[in-house]
Amino acid sequence: MSRRRLFITLAALLLIGGPLIGRAQEANDPGFGGAADVAFAERLWVQLREARLVGRGAIGSRPYEGVEPHGAILTTLQSSLLLDDHEGVVIVKNNYLGENVSVQSVADNPDLNLDAITVMFRREPGYDPETRNWFWAKFNSDGTLSTNPRGRRLAGRVAKNPEDGCIACHVFAPGNDYVFLNDQFAVPEAFDVASAGLPGVSNFVPQRLDQQPADTALSPGLRVTYYNNIFNVVQEVREWARRAPGDAGVPLQSLDYNVGSGKVLTSGRVDGVGAVIDGLINFPTTGVYTMAMRSNDGVELTIGGETIFSDPTVHADRFSGLVTVEIDQPGWYALDLLYFEKRNTSTLELFWLQPGEEGGLNFVPPSAFAHRAG
Ligand code: HEC
Repeated sequence: MSRRRLFITLAALLLIGGPLIGRAQEANDPGFGGAADVAFAERLWVQLREARLVGRGAIGSRPYEGVEPHGAILTTLQSSLLLDDHEGVVIVKNNYLGENVSVQSVADNPDLNLDAITVMFRREPGYDPETRNWFWAKFNSDGTLSTNPRGRRLAGRVAKNPEDGCIACHVFAPGNDYVFLNDQFAVPEAFDVASAGLPGVSNFVPQRLDQQPADTALSPGLRVTYYNNIFNVVQEVREWARRAPGDAGVPLQSLDYNVGSGKVLTSGRVDGVGAVIDGLINFPTTGVYTMAMRSNDGVELTIGGETIFSDPTVHADRFSGLVTVEIDQPGWYALDLLYFEKRNTSTLELFWLQPGEEGGLNFVPPSAFAHRAG
């Protein structure tokens, strides 16, 4: 798509879809511009400077013509950054505006006509699974935060409402990953199984728990026990767990771990981790759910007695194929998950598309996970 057509399409989508999205999401917009967001953005800026991704003497990249609302000329850098003990992907966009600004003028002097620096930083799991855990910030060229017309600083989950919104527009990025320029963080689309080169869809009909637990009997998240060892196949984790005591970990609030070489789940360790995870998953409505899992390394997921994903050996990040899960009765289903990470990078993500929804899959939200209290 040409840049002009892309812009026209986006503008149209915002005009038509914006007010709807705005209304639906304003109520549960966790917001932006609060003290914690601003403090985080300030630390982010310091680290960006340190990594020479912003400021004078920053690493250069080839300028190109941009589309609204970003500048007339843009440069974009992608890297990874360590911040508050979490290593995440960062994408920095320099936005250039001005009378005579051109690709050549920016190439010749990247400090001139720099209007704003817009940044996306992939934060720790659980930050905002709904929007793939991106933190958004818009800085002025001197590193101070830009504000919206009402004086709110643009840092944090900016914003699900169309007037302010990074998120309200980036939600239209292909691949459902909020990133326009590439699809490195994409999730397969349910209707796109063939072209995604994934194995065919399989269908599962899990068994609901006979006795539905009362809300008061439940604690949020999935229970996890860790085993420190080098595993090569996921079944070894189960065998090891029969013989050795493990370490109870902080429950997993969501399965949205994509942490590079950072810490494996809540184990505090970066390598040699096996995890036995169990609890309950709530399917809120009847109908057909499309689900996908991405793992690195081995994984085996059983829901309501059906093993729906199994990718048991050592591997780089990959999807386990799409499946459909037929739910006749809404409510809580038993969930058992085995996982291990041998060394280097670690990923454990679970996605679904609820009945009647279209487009890309989303992380299963934290509200769908629980375990029996006590
Ligand atoms: C009206 C739509 C729209 C809004 C609002 C918007 N962007 Fe973007 N953004 C885009 C488009 C389109 C691209 C890719 C175009 C390009 O780089 O030429 C993009 C690219 C980016 C990129 C590079 C990564 C990518 O997605 O390709 C970053 C970083 C970014 N935007 C940050 C922000 C931040 C931060 C905000 C809010 C302060 C914001 N954007 C608001 C449309 C928007």
